[in-house]
Amino acid sequence: MSNVSVDATESAHNENQPENNTRRRFLTVATSVVGGVGAVGAAVPFIASWNPSAKAKAAGADVEVDISGIEPGQLIRVMWRSKPVWIVRRTPEILEQLGNHEGELKDPNSEAEQQPVFAQNRFRSLKEEYLILVGICTHLGCSPQHLKGGAFEEIVEGVPDGFFCPCHGSKFDMAGRVFQNVPAPLNLVVPPYQFVDDATVIIGSEAEAV
Ligand code: FES
Repeated sequence: MSNVSVDATESAHNENQPENNTRRRFLTVATSVVGGVGAVGAAVPFIASWNPSAKAKAAGADVEVDISGIEPGQLIRVMWRSKPVWIVRRTPEILEQLGNHEGELKDPNSEAEQQPVFAQNRFRSLKEEYLILVGICTHLGCSPQHLKGGAFEEIVEGVPDGFFCPCHGSKFDMAGRVFQNVPAPLNLVVPPYQFVDDATVIIGSEAEAV
């Protein structure tokens, strides 16, 4: 609307064109400068509000993960707070294994306080099917290997699947529980997390207690 209005005024005052042109140039410049100031004024709050968000990300904002594509037995890795986090979809066979070697573990019920309360049990997870762990050895911080389909039996007889840290030989089962007689003192850490729905998990925060 305003552009149409300016055009009509120009055709009605052609005789004053040089003066109007001068005024228009001034208005154009004045508008641009104001616009520029406005843009700077708008940019400062935007940057100010963006910076904390960037800092929060560096410090470790929550990470949302789509788990719908994880195959049974598969492990995927995501990064959270600059740490690798593993999400494993455990099969019924893997879950069954967990009850077979608890006498060989240092802390089978995860009584050491280094994970959410929901992880203080055999499965160490909110849903038995999904194991979520910080993938860092609790000895000196190496990243253990996932050995599956019988490969872990070369490390612990009778246990087909598990995690092995080659740095100094620590061994963990498919709940991240550490075996006895290895240098790692504690089970692998379970991070705080919550399920938004069957296909989505958020790493970094737990659901509020109801
Ligand atoms: S860092 Fe894993 S056994 Fe030493």
